[in-house]
Amino acid sequence: MIKRPRRLRGNELIRGLVRETKLEVENLVYPLFIVEGENIKKEIPSLPDVYHLSVDKLKDEVNELLDLGIKYVILFGVPNEKDEYGKQAYSDEGIVQKAIREIKNISNDIYVITDICMCQYTSHGHCGILCPNGYVDNDKTLEYLSKIAISHVKAGADMVAPSDMMDGRIGHMRNTLDKEGYVNIPIMSYSAKYASSFYGPFRDAAHSAPSFGDRRSYQMDPANINEAIREVELDIEEGADIVMVKPALSYLDVIRKVKDSFNVPVAAYNVSGEYSMLKLAVKNGLLDEKAIMESLISIKRAGADIIITYFAKDVARMFKK
Ligand code: PBG
Repeated sequence: MIKRPRRLRGNELIRGLVRETKLEVENLVYPLFIVEGENIKKEIPSLPDVYHLSVDKLKDEVNELLDLGIKYVILFGVPNEKDEYGKQAYSDEGIVQKAIREIKNISNDIYVITDICMCQYTSHGHCGILCPNGYVDNDKTLEYLSKIAISHVKAGADMVAPSDMMDGRIGHMRNTLDKEGYVNIPIMSYSAKYASSFYGPFRDAAHSAPSFGDRRSYQMDPANINEAIREVELDIEEGADIVMVKPALSYLDVIRKVKDSFNVPVAAYNVSGEYSMLKLAVKNGLLDEKAIMESLISIKRAGADIIITYFAKDVARMFKK
């Protein structure tokens, strides 16, 4: 028998024909950090090429995204005022609410997802309301999270994404949304969110580091995978439309297992630490920018349908080349 090569060779075009995983700009969600004030477009030191933007600067940003073919954004607010109850998170005049209205004014072609959490808004930096003993009061926090979700949806948000990891928040939020008539608003749940060091640069960007303690009582142990499946299962039962694994790259096995275990869309958050490591390596010439594609395709190959990534613009530009 004539020995043939095991891989298809010859014309490079054959690679496209038999490629198993395709990454598209449509799979990507780009995070935006909104700050108070005017005329602010300031690079975030811990996240190279990512900016703090004031609401009046959103027009240029949205147009840039649309030019690149990016249609999905997730909003994070960086408010000036913080208090024990995170009031700015659910105020109609809060920074995210203003940003949603502005984006919807600029274009209907951008799909707006909002992160629902309290850590940027509370004076103590934890993801909920605290009990006197310093622990987060899970059940009391649920009321607040739902209130935040409703205020975002009223401002025009298309989807809400709770990232707090309180128990029962998906059911509570789904009920509240339905009761207020928002039955068509989907919930993307940060279902398997690990207590990760890879969030470091985000906490600088969003000014959300806890002032004491850490988030280990409500975020997952990096060593656990069965627990992730349990979390995802409960969120789906409670009404989550999309489930998320976060971070992405150190948790590719979790993404795969979630994808194989359930039949809902799976999102993965390619978090700030994952971004900054690679971005700095590329900026400093240690790695070719193709490494960005390689790492994002690994997330897609692991089973993510949706990837939230600060690399969305880089990827879109590389596709345009
Ligand atoms: C808010 C939230 C965080 C991230 C997304 N939403 C920080 C945290 O949980 O500490 C992290 C995103 C990133 O690192 O890019 N709870």
